Amino acid sequence: MRSVPYVTLNDGQTMPQLGFGCWSFSQDETTTVILSALEAGYRLIDGAFMYGNEAQMGEALRASGIKRDDVFLTTKVWNSDHGRTKTRASVERSLKSIGVDQLNLVLIHWPAPMNDLYVETWQTLIALKKEGLIRSIGVSNFNADHLERIINETGEVPVINQIEINPALQQNALRAACTARGFVVQAWTPFGKGRSFDSAPIRAAAARTGKSPGQVILRWHMQLGNATIPRSANPDRQADNLNIFDFELTKDEMAAIATLDEGFRTGPDPLVFGAD
Ligand SMILES: NC(=O)c1ccc[n+]([C@@H]2O[C@H](COP(=O)([O-])OP(=O)(O)OC[C@H]3O[C@@H](n4cnc5c(N)ncnc54)[C@H](OP(=O)(O)O)[C@@H]3O)[C@@H](O)[C@H]2O)c1
Repeated sequence: MRSVPYVTLNDGQTMPQLGFGCWSFSQDETTTVILSALEAGYRLIDGAFMYGNEAQMGEALRASGIKRDDVFLTTKVWNSDHGRTKTRASVERSLKSIGVDQLNLVLIHWPAPMNDLYVETWQTLIALKKEGLIRSIGVSNFNADHLERIINETGEVPVINQIEINPALQQNALRAACTARGFVVQAWTPFGKGRSFDSAPIRAAAARTGKSPGQVILRWHMQLGNATIPRSANPDRQADNLNIFDFELTKDEMAAIATLDEGFRTGPDPLVFGAD
């Protein structure tokens, strides 16, 4: 199996283009699931305080015997932790729960614009990065206006924007705005809850390449230039989801998948989500 490529972030750090998502795993299963993902070859683990399983992320890393420096750990600051004091406390709590001295990447989980604290939260992440507690800082679920505001008010450009993207929600305008600003787009819920698995373009590409619909969709993300973080509790699918670097979708297949965009969100709209 070919290994996962790394992307260079705008602060000079590197990050695997394909990582492993930890949302919704129970505390009981998380250690086993992440351990098998690390054994399968994943070197980016995407967590969040809100997922309630950060301690198990750390346990899995230690149990794997893989060097800390070889694994890219992401966590996120939840909506109720926006603002200077709470954001600092949130990052310190995540470091302690995971049991590491430094996080590779911390994201503002949602802008929660109705609370109007995301700029202050961003300023706090900038300070924590300067103090060495975080290597890279980014955002999640930010639209173009939120991005412009934090950049204009602080001069600090995020390294990534983690947003919902799948064939039924392609977010081309926002992806272009992120790319123009020089940061990576990382797709969450990359399969879109399977909505496009049975579509003609995905089925045709799967039949031609001998890959599954899920693998075709992950390959589509890679060829668009997205980073992504699929989740699976199943060791076979964990391995399948990494096994996408030995084939390519043609220009026509990419164009056919582009027609599947219907603006369908599986998650909430970032403009209205996150009131305290
Ligand atoms: N920033 C945010 O606001 C945000 C929001 C949501 C998610 N995320 C992050 O993004 C990660 C991924 O999103 P997600 O967990 O919502 O969903 P996802 O990765 O798109 O889908 C996971 C589901 O797909 C199944 N699956 C995995 N591989 C498959 C394959 N090759 N073929 C068919 N089915 C497959 C899994 O089942 P099995 O377990 O049975 O394989 C699971 O039910 C999360 O875990 C989290 O880290 C971030």
